[in-house]
Amino acid sequence: MRLLSQTASHTQMLGPGLTRRALVLAGVPHLLARATQRSKFVIAHRGASAYAPENTLAAYRLAVEQGADFVEQDLQITRDGVLVCLHDRTLERTTDVATVFADRARTESAAGRTVRQWLVHDFNLDELRRLDAGSWFDSKFRGERIPTWDEAIQTLRGRAGLYPELKDPEHYAALGYSMEELVWETLCRHRLQEPGADPKTPVVIQSFSDRALRNLRKLGCRLPLTLLIGRSNAERWLSQSGMREIRSFAEAIGPEKTLLLERRDVVARAHALGLTVVPYTFRSTATGKFPDVRSEMAYFLFNLRVDGLFTDNPDLFPRSSGAYAGQ
Ligand code: G3P
Ligand code: CA
Repeated sequence: MRLLSQTASHTQMLGPGLTRRALVLAGVPHLLARATQRSKFVIAHRGASAYAPENTLAAYRLAVEQGADFVEQDLQITRDGVLVCLHDRTLERTTDVATVFADRARTESAAGRTVRQWLVHDFNLDELRRLDAGSWFDSKFRGERIPTWDEAIQTLRGRAGLYPELKDPEHYAALGYSMEELVWETLCRHRLQEPGADPKTPVVIQSFSDRALRNLRKLGCRLPLTLLIGRSNAERWLSQSGMREIRSFAEAIGPEKTLLLERRDVVARAHALGLTVVPYTFRSTATGKFPDVRSEMAYFLFNLRVDGLFTDNPDLFPRSSGAYAGQ
């Protein structure tokens, strides 16, 4: 493997990049149905989360400015049944909940340690709106709020695709919420439920839960679906029989990226079955054996031939193979 430094500047790539982006945005549902017609697309992971607090409108807007084809939203559910954009099931990592609602923690003891946690589903939307979701990242983002998914859709509509992830649907099902139904109802309300409904805002849905994706199909969803694959479920889903099964309810796989370095045949096998491949997560703070994240992304795109990827750094997405020259 040979890695070369990036030669074309972002500005130089902007022209052809925009053309490709327009094509991708218009054609992604079709693209995901027929992975052999591949282009390359970038999904802003929790927004442009290297530069702005993850899953806030600021991060989503910045992702659009940085040329993201899709913007990811992680979804959780409030006590009053509203879909909100947040990665964790709990609030303390990315908000000031411990200050605003100091007495609302759940306390758990594990391995001699007491842990205080503030669960999203213990709070109504009105309460979540009081939380600051930006200061933890940088004081200049003070006042950013946890967005509802509705607000995220309104912010991104016409500007990028949506790539929502159903987080912990089984956890919410046990509490009496159907995340699948909430997602589907929201898409229908925004008239985004059909592939190609808004060519400027294609929608692809992702989850680690195959059951959630199958449930969406049962609800009538024909949008492209992506099954996320981590180390814990890789054996099952990356086997030949596993990938054949995925094809019966999804159009794409989203493997943790190092799985593709260890199993070099996965992308070709997935493509042969008509599955699109979109690994996660590429970020400038951790690039392993690669000199920088742009080179790493280029290697996956142009050597391993993945179709798209999730990154915290959409501005560094290589639109051409110039960032990498493989053997
Ligand atoms: O959805 C792809 C990737 O985001 C999955 O990992 O934990 O960042 O949601 P996580
Ligand atoms: Ca995610």
